[in-house]
Amino acid sequence: MAEVEPDGGRAPVLRLDDATIGFHGRTLWQDLSLDLVPGEFLAVLGPNGSGKSTLLKVLLGLQRLNSGRVEIAGRPARRGSSRVGYIPQQQTLPVETPLRARDLIAMGLDGHRFGLRTRPRALQATVDQLLEDVGATDYAEMPVGLLSGGEQQRLRAAQALASDPDVLLCDEPLHSLDLHHQQAVTELIRRQAQERDAAVVFVTHEINPVIEHVDRVLYFARGQYRIGTPEEVIRSEVLSELYDSPVDVIEHRGRLVIMADHVEGDHCHVDHGGVL
Ligand SMILES: Nc1ncnc2c1ncn2[C@@H]1O[C@H](COP(=O)(O)OP(=O)(O)O)[C@@H](O)[C@H]1O
Ligand SMILES: [Mg+2]
Repeated sequence: MAEVEPDGGRAPVLRLDDATIGFHGRTLWQDLSLDLVPGEFLAVLGPNGSGKSTLLKVLLGLQRLNSGRVEIAGRPARRGSSRVGYIPQQQTLPVETPLRARDLIAMGLDGHRFGLRTRPRALQATVDQLLEDVGATDYAEMPVGLLSGGEQQRLRAAQALASDPDVLLCDEPLHSLDLHHQQAVTELIRRQAQERDAAVVFVTHEINPVIEHVDRVLYFARGQYRIGTPEEVIRSEVLSELYDSPVDVIEHRGRLVIMADHVEGDHCHVDHGGVL
């Protein structure tokens, strides 16, 4: 159960306090303070190179801050925490990887919750359920290196969820998935937040597939950030100020469409529903 703070509110499970990070003299983001309580769903948006994946690495304890603090469940973030699940940004596994699809998911099972006394049959049932949840039953016995990028991505989502994490960090988990599988993976992540009370940090290029589940948005650009509800942040005035150039946000058939002119001669770039 989540701890309760003296004032009756829920204790944050993830906390950044005045956090700053950069490389080689370039600041990616600075003075970022953020608390997430159990069950909260945060979407992280921003252009390429704005530090979204780096944020997840900080939360995983893989990347040190230049200054500030990062805590998971009240302790400094550290590598290998069994309370944290991670869906990495897509990379393709080598063809010769000596694992079947079901092995990849089984690797995510947490030894503390599924200790040595757990019967192998129970482990298999968990893996089978996760395979089904991400629509991977048909390729359960296949060597992972022979699967498509999208098929591998669905297994990574299942692996991250296998240990029933309290904090779920997702780096563009819908990338290269078709609509049907986007919905399946989104549903799994939503359940982890709403039914299992996990705090979710969801890096995405596209807000629309998850917008109905999002509590807050963290938007990075030009070394700055804005945070708030989607209605507060994804607005023309807010994004124009963040980018220091005109950005239009319009709602079209229930979707948010973000448009910007990138002046390159008379070239006009329109970005449909994505992030600049
Ligand atoms: N360990 C590192 N050393 C040096 N530069 C890094 C390191 N990690 C990330 N960067 C740089 O920081 C910037 C932001 O990277 P990243 O967080 O991956 O961006 P995003 O996920 O928003 O596209 C990039 O320019 C990247 O090259
Ligand atoms: Mg990234």
